[in-house]
Amino acid sequence: MNKLYVLALSASLASPLAFADTKPVSIDNKPAFIASLMKQMTLDEKIGQLRLISIGPEMPAKEIVKEIAAGRIGGTFNSVTRAENRPLQDAAAKNSRLKIPMFFAYDVIHGHRTIFPISLGLASSWDMQAVERVGRVSAIEASADGLDMTFGPMVDIARDPRWGRTSEGFGEDPHLVSEAARATVRGLQGKSASAPDSIMASVKHFALYGAIEGGRDYNTVDMSPMRMYQDYLPPYRAAIDAGAGGVMVALNSINGVPASSNMWLMQDLLRKDWGFKGVTVSDHGAITELMRHGVAKDNREAAKLAIKAGIDMSMADTSYGAELPGLVKSGEVNIKDIDNAVREVLGAKYDMGLFHDPYRRIGKASDDPAETNAESRLHRDDARDVARKSLVLLENRNQTLPLKKGGTIALVGPLADTQIDVMGSWSAAGFLKQSVTVRQGLQNALGQQGRLIYARGSNITEDKKIVEYLNYLNWDAPEVVQDPRLQVEMLEEAVKAAQQADVIVAAVGESRGMSHESSSRVSLDLPANQRVLLEALKATGKPLVIVLMNGRPLNLTWAQANADAMLETWFPGTEGGNAIADVLFGDYNPSGKLPITFPRSVGQIPSYYNHLRLGRPFTPGKPGNYTSQYFDEENGPLYHFGYGLSYTDFTVSDVTLSSQTMQRKGSVDASVRVKNTGQRDGATVVQLYIRDVAASVVRPVKELKDFRKIMLKAGEEQVVRFKIDEDKLKFFNPKLQNVAEAGAFDVQIGLDSQNVKQASFDLK
Ligand code: BGC
Repeated sequence: MNKLYVLALSASLASPLAFADTKPVSIDNKPAFIASLMKQMTLDEKIGQLRLISIGPEMPAKEIVKEIAAGRIGGTFNSVTRAENRPLQDAAAKNSRLKIPMFFAYDVIHGHRTIFPISLGLASSWDMQAVERVGRVSAIEASADGLDMTFGPMVDIARDPRWGRTSEGFGEDPHLVSEAARATVRGLQGKSASAPDSIMASVKHFALYGAIEGGRDYNTVDMSPMRMYQDYLPPYRAAIDAGAGGVMVALNSINGVPASSNMWLMQDLLRKDWGFKGVTVSDHGAITELMRHGVAKDNREAAKLAIKAGIDMSMADTSYGAELPGLVKSGEVNIKDIDNAVREVLGAKYDMGLFHDPYRRIGKASDDPAETNAESRLHRDDARDVARKSLVLLENRNQTLPLKKGGTIALVGPLADTQIDVMGSWSAAGFLKQSVTVRQGLQNALGQQGRLIYARGSNITEDKKIVEYLNYLNWDAPEVVQDPRLQVEMLEEAVKAAQQADVIVAAVGESRGMSHESSSRVSLDLPANQRVLLEALKATGKPLVIVLMNGRPLNLTWAQANADAMLETWFPGTEGGNAIADVLFGDYNPSGKLPITFPRSVGQIPSYYNHLRLGRPFTPGKPGNYTSQYFDEENGPLYHFGYGLSYTDFTVSDVTLSSQTMQRKGSVDASVRVKNTGQRDGATVVQLYIRDVAASVVRPVKELKDFRKIMLKAGEEQVVRFKIDEDKLKFFNPKLQNVAEAGAFDVQIGLDSQNVKQASFDLK
């Protein structure tokens, strides 16, 4: 399209009357271009732009085309091929009166056609280049399918693993999640969201969705402003500062006001304080849900509250279309409120490059891929590399791992050979036949060497109600396929396999649907039948390697005590099985670290590492002394934040500070010497924590402020230096000012959050 996009020119393709008195406007002048377009729009056309509709059960395709041509839909989601999207774009860009292009969105959360590890796994890599690469590859693949926008990254801080959507985010820590948020936005949007191989990010779920009470999905959030600002809001802000063009609004209420009608959240914080300039999108049906929250008596009031709060687009919701015309007519809603929303929607379309070329991602029909799921469209090397980095070695007694490629391996467990689970939830554009299971991965690695005996050993669960629930969640195919054999038959087969083997690899955990939206659990245990399987395997006396798949911290106390080795693989994606084999056989030395605390029991939740200091903190070894503890369980987590083993050993020297004092606006360098003292090359994550020794309010025991992933050859050492400036010492005080207070600070550096070396300095 040439530089001078003339609305009058496009008018010649539409109704000749539409632009009768329109002056030429340069497409390079975004505000003027959009203002000029808005002048041409009827109220109905404006309201039409605010409607984001799901392709699928909501409306048959034919009807959607008609609605689009009538100017009553602004964008759609859930259509994921160029061929599906083209007729919809034709309806808008060729057949509607004003030819305003549509945009096409989808939940591209951890890959598109190629599925990468779930976000919790990505965070475990602590490798932000890898996270950015995932975003980039996702954008390349999604844009090649005609998509313009994703509802991601999902950056809700999760401190309660009962919440099924823990799997979808990057863990419990504000700093790590913020870094991952930035990296993802950079990857998705590339140099510009308008590039044909970029897609626009819309960060979600704004805000605080991860803090729902009790980890029960869609529950309420009640939180002090200090905690919000300090711990939960930074990741959304990070994504926005990185340029995310969109924000998806959360389903929950915050201190009594639903996010979708929350003026403070949407106006004061997002628009005024943070200066967000992009488009806001409601979550699925959230505007109508304002009635169920009990803040709107009817749909009319719901629409009014949402548009006034600043919800630009309503997702899968008819209240805007049905109610806004009447509300404007009666004067209850000002046309300015509508215009503000329309401006943002058109602005986002502009930023996606769609006014320049509505087909920039859909392309020409003649260029459509012959086969959507063609192998050639995948990025397997990237997927395998990132998946290897996301695996966390939790235990390795007597150097059980790496395994030798030889001898006999018994591979057992309900997750050993299931292609659907490897991909994790929110991976619907992934083609499950292309994902590599643990069984396939081990077989690929072994080739002709050694022998692999497989036995399923158990179902995911024998609880029929749970199976029914999990299968209800998916309308395409059953999520969980039950082996019709009796539990005891499967068990016997598995034990027989184990008896013939030199080592047992047991792939156990959750099916992917167990860690998903609307999949909250009261228990973090492995399902009982899987535990029975592990106990029977253990009883054979053969070395037991547990390979876990799960989307949340599980209660692993039995496994921790009984496994000879244990590898956390989350849901590792398309190349999962190969990546797992790489680590099990030592072709890759594991380097992942936990981005979330693993408690010993559900009763300890919340169990995050960066909790506030207490007047009576728990004193190890002194059970009855009136300190903060549970008397019926060992205190502290099972695996702490930042933890993860390697096949090599590292040492960390004492911390050297460049100065004992720091001036305002100055900085102090903190350095350690990290040495690989083992026999193998390996990577590790050096983590910097800071503790405010005494402040005007209670501060956390420590907070992650920086980290560096380094690669060291066997015997090699490296000095790792962190620059600490005033920003790293700041916190939000009761007036919500971001301040650093004078006084002492402890600097802790280590390879996890607990085993650290410490030094201190004073801020003047
Ligand atoms: C989820 C969102 C998602 C949307 C569209 C909702 O149920 O909460 O995260 O983006 O559906 O699929």
